[in-house]
Amino acid sequence: MGDFRAIVIEQETEGGRILAHTAEVRQLSDAFLMAGEVTVAVEFSDLNYKDGLAIAGRPGVARVSPLIPGIDLVGVVESSEDPRWRPGDRVVLNGDGIGESHHGGLAERARVRGDALVRVPDTLLNEQAAAIGTAGFTAMLAVLALERTGVDPEEVRESGSSVLVTGAAGGVGSVAVSLLAKLGYPVTASTGRPVEHGGYLTDLGAAAIIDRAELSDPGRPLQTQRWAGAIDSVGSHTLANVLAQTRYGGTVAACGLAQGADLPATVMPFILRGVTLTGINSVEAPPALRETAWRRLGTDLDEEALAAMTRFIPLAEAIPAADDILAGRLHGRTVVDVRA
Ligand SMILES: NC(=O)c1ccc[n+]([C@@H]2O[C@H](COP(=O)([O-])OP(=O)(O)OC[C@H]3O[C@@H](n4cnc5c(N)ncnc54)[C@H](OP(=O)(O)O)[C@@H]3O)[C@@H](O)[C@H]2O)c1
Repeated sequence: MGDFRAIVIEQETEGGRILAHTAEVRQLSDAFLMAGEVTVAVEFSDLNYKDGLAIAGRPGVARVSPLIPGIDLVGVVESSEDPRWRPGDRVVLNGDGIGESHHGGLAERARVRGDALVRVPDTLLNEQAAAIGTAGFTAMLAVLALERTGVDPEEVRESGSSVLVTGAAGGVGSVAVSLLAKLGYPVTASTGRPVEHGGYLTDLGAAAIIDRAELSDPGRPLQTQRWAGAIDSVGSHTLANVLAQTRYGGTVAACGLAQGADLPATVMPFILRGVTLTGINSVEAPPALRETAWRRLGTDLDEEALAAMTRFIPLAEAIPAADDILAGRLHGRTVVDVRA
């Protein structure tokens, strides 16, 4: 097989501190790839907050150097030592350590574990699977968690309540809003950009928009009951307030830490209102759960909404776009066409 292009980040560290960091597009040979049973001709990757951190040289994501970043990839199997996968199969991989400790998707070729791959559903194009990416996969895992704990669209509608999505204009948030709306849940979207992106979120299916400032400061342990459930990408005081505002028996799925990794809350919502707090980890999701989530993504996500939240960039542009996602200048999903 011939050479291929990839983004490579290289860093010098000392005691966890990054002393020097570079990110550039390089021409590589197969010898650069790590061990894995399946070689994939990558077509698309995409940009998540984590990729922004890795490419920009912030700590916590890249665990080896040099590293090809990119926690997602979508493409076609070139060769396989795993009998489940054959040349020509369309595959998607989210997490499982790629773009962190194993070379990732921001490359024209990847060698990965057969166990972590999922077949792209027949109903989705490869670029749509990349538009969904880890963000959409995570949003689907959160929706599955709400369903598992009995948050039912009809009951939510009848109660006059809604499901809250925080960080709504971001990647996880945008997919969560559109998935929930398509499934019939009334959705309230919390965003720091209500003027700029209120119309965008309404088009994705949000019935109401609130300013994230309503949730971001310290609040009382129990507040007026507003939400039948919530999908939270924000953490910190926001998550604590969301828990304090969740109705009796509701579920909050914690996905992210855009405001902070702390959780300054009390046990009151749990012991007085029977609220469930459930954690979402997309990176280590087991194969059966990956299959279920992707099957549902193939049927439950509105195609037009997905197109409306997606923009495409070529490989080299993923480097400057890293700063944009970290600075909160992007919204929705950014797909990287690694062949462009
Ligand atoms: N658990 C998992 O497996 C998993 C998977 C994927 C992502 N994540 C995490 O989920 C979070 C979102 O990821 P993403 O890829 O969707 O990132 P993203 O596209 O950058 O979206 C994050 C959104 O959070 C909001 N936000 C940013 N800073 C904030 C602050 N200081 N206070 C309150 N809200 C803030 C913004 O939404 P508005 O502009 O609408 O306010 C922003 O668009 C990240 O923390 C990421 O690490 C976790």
